[in-house]
Amino acid sequence: MHLTGFMLFSPAPHTQLSWVYPPEKIRYQWHEVEYWEEIARTLEEGLFDAFFFADAWGGGDRTAIRWAIQFPRHDPLVLIPRLSAVTERLGFAVTMSTTFYPPYMLARKLATLDHITKGRIGWNVVTSINDSEARNFGVELPPHDERYDRADEYLELVDALWGSWEPDAVVMDMEAKVFADPDKVHRIDFAGRWYSSTGPLNVIPSPQGRPVIFQAGSSERGREFAAQWADCVFAVGGTPKRCLAFRNDLEERMQRRGRDPAALQIINFCGPVVARTQAEAEALAAEISERIPAEAAIANMSGHWNMDLTALPPDTRLSALGEIEGTRGMVEAFQATGDPTLAEVARSYLNMASQEAFVGTPEKVADTLQDLFENGGVDGFQFSPQWYAPDYYRDIVDLLIPELRNRGLVRDRYTGVTLRQHLSQTAAD
Ligand SMILES: Cc1cc2nc3c(=O)[nH]c(=O)nc-3n(C[C@H](O)[C@H](O)[C@H](O)COP(=O)(O)O)c2cc1C
Repeated sequence: MHLTGFMLFSPAPHTQLSWVYPPEKIRYQWHEVEYWEEIARTLEEGLFDAFFFADAWGGGDRTAIRWAIQFPRHDPLVLIPRLSAVTERLGFAVTMSTTFYPPYMLARKLATLDHITKGRIGWNVVTSINDSEARNFGVELPPHDERYDRADEYLELVDALWGSWEPDAVVMDMEAKVFADPDKVHRIDFAGRWYSSTGPLNVIPSPQGRPVIFQAGSSERGREFAAQWADCVFAVGGTPKRCLAFRNDLEERMQRRGRDPAALQIINFCGPVVARTQAEAEALAAEISERIPAEAAIANMSGHWNMDLTALPPDTRLSALGEIEGTRGMVEAFQATGDPTLAEVARSYLNMASQEAFVGTPEKVADTLQDLFENGGVDGFQFSPQWYAPDYYRDIVDLLIPELRNRGLVRDRYTGVTLRQHLSQTAAD
């Protein structure tokens, strides 16, 4: 089972109002680097594969400001070198948008980070979902499917840049005074419909060659994109049966492209509420759910779905919303559960405390994860904190990980160094 910590560089990553916590227990604030260092060390102690940073570039309406709904959001890219300095094996994945980053700049930053982290970097490819992000860059957000068309071309380009140096191009021959063999460093002369670049990249080949590619879209077009490019897909979850159908669908699409489906890792969103006793876990879960005003969840949904839902009646069914220009796959997944209303979705939106199977003792939560792992084709889980993140991950590492390890479901040591090696480590290694 592969495990990742899943956060934004913000006060409350995905569970609304999770920044609210007894002040006397707060050691560092979310905007202080020590907060992140503590989390990174804890994740490494728990032998997690990676620390994953979601990100976006917009938001900031009154509701978001008042409750810190995915806003503010500092830049995680800048944090990673520091976190890599206090860890040795933990991988890092960072979200960067194909819509806003020029491809050459992105290829260069990630290749440099792969060097700095000694091969522990991954890229969560997003095409961005929200008009407020586009407005911050003074552009219009392209339509949903076109964003993926552009991203296909973008990936071709950055892939060519990462391949523009042959692996043995650097010779560093002091006697002959040759740094690199010019015959092994190539221009790419890429000229596409949306992007062009001559290359070569001005970064020498990095330990992994290319970052590990993560992707989280699950609409029809999103799945096609994942099948083409992703090493690792983030999914929102559901029953083992639905997860398995998702896996089979992605595998089929990969096979059609001649890719080996065994190379794909599917990692499900989760953030269980684990405590020593069932009663304690249920009390915590109730506190978390009661804290979240419906308006806060609806503001979060509005941002993700790129649609102002605040003015709609709460009993509006998802099927009445029309075409979703934001996280379409996620809305389709909710619709498949019986076309709920906005109010119904709001009660559980990115709040694992509302999901009974993820609330309980280490044994109970391990049963839930094991079922998805063994019967749902799920390769692992991303843990989204439900309370003050340094303490949340401490609890996961102290309570849940030992239970998973006793069952032989998670590693008892890192066998590799790079993120790609961690993700390909199997039970046999
Ligand atoms: C678990 C999960 C995490 C995501 N994280 C981000 C993110 O950090 N930034 C972002 O812009 N989009 C994020 N997305 C949105 C996806 O990258 C994708 O753009 C969106 O789901 C639309 O694709 P789809 O319609 O194919 O599902 C996330 C989606 C999911 C399901």
